[in-house]
Amino acid sequence: MAISKVGVLGCGLMGSGIAQVCAQSGHSTLVLEVDQKLLDKGLGNIDKFLRGGVERGKLTAADRDRTMGNLRGTTRLEDLADRDLIIEAVVENLGAKREVFGKLDTLCPAATIFSSNTSSLSITELAASTKRPSRFVGLHFFNPVPLMKLVEVADTILTDRKVFDEALAFVGTLGKTAIRTRDKTGFIVNRLLVPYILDAVRALEEGVGAIKDIDEAMKLGCGYPMGPLTLLDLVGLDTTEHIANVFFEEFRERRFACPALLRRMVLAGFHGRKTGKGFYDYSGATPVPNDFLVGGA
Ligand code: 3HC
Repeated sequence: MAISKVGVLGCGLMGSGIAQVCAQSGHSTLVLEVDQKLLDKGLGNIDKFLRGGVERGKLTAADRDRTMGNLRGTTRLEDLADRDLIIEAVVENLGAKREVFGKLDTLCPAATIFSSNTSSLSITELAASTKRPSRFVGLHFFNPVPLMKLVEVADTILTDRKVFDEALAFVGTLGKTAIRTRDKTGFIVNRLLVPYILDAVRALEEGVGAIKDIDEAMKLGCGYPMGPLTLLDLVGLDTTEHIANVFFEEFRERRFACPALLRRMVLAGFHGRKTGKGFYDYSGATPVPNDFLVGGA
């Protein structure tokens, strides 16, 4: 079965990026949000990104118009009944994901493939809660989705081989590189990335270096495109805390434990770029490190 009609659940940071790359690759894309305000915000972000691409000479105005023409938004779950593939990118909460898949299970034909962009929850648990566990895979995209070239495709012990191959082929149509991974918490990337960024917070807490120095160290010393604390601000501190908690629950290892500073920053509303403050303050023209986060009163 060739996948041509895609349904994306959620038009937030990840969902909007996923919807954009699907529409940009010529797929008829329908994206769902819980209300019109959030939908307009997500679609507005896609439009802004595409306009930025035109300004940078990365795509033509005709490409942008074609992409927007392939993209529609809805707040009605029933509208997704004709989709070949569903990619779920709603809030990282097992109950919320199970609820939406449960409803779609009765709306979509048996052939529709279900997938989740979850970065920490079990694909097996989600798949097993539907009536189509053999037609369920993990499709894990990276932030910022339009720029990151990788998608992790995760199977479970219940996945049909043909469905897995179709999912791999679909990722190819998006112009992304697919890697195969099994449904183990964190897959490959987050299993390696999460302890690294949590350790950067611990290094800051322990006074090994200041915010800017930790970031510069990994950028210039290892050639990483951005430092770990800048990356944390991009991914979101609340999201990272949630991932750390799920990983710690699974592995019970200190390297996955959420550092005290990160927990407190989340409580204080320092969620990173999305709230305008995290390890850096984003209110001005250039980000300024929040050096007051550590050190004496
Ligand atoms: N449209 C089209 N292209 C655009 C664009 C737009 N609106 N905006 C930027 N670009 C292009 C630029 O033209 C440039 O292209 P070039 O390489 O051909 O010159 C490229 O994208 C990079 O853009 P910038 O020069 O503006 O920005 P940077 O060079 O600073 O790169 C970055 C930005 C790609 C985000 C880079 O810093 C990076 O790779 N950071 C690491 C991100 C990362 O690690 N993400 C993974 C997070 S973990 C995750 O998501 C998993 C989850 O489960 C937690």
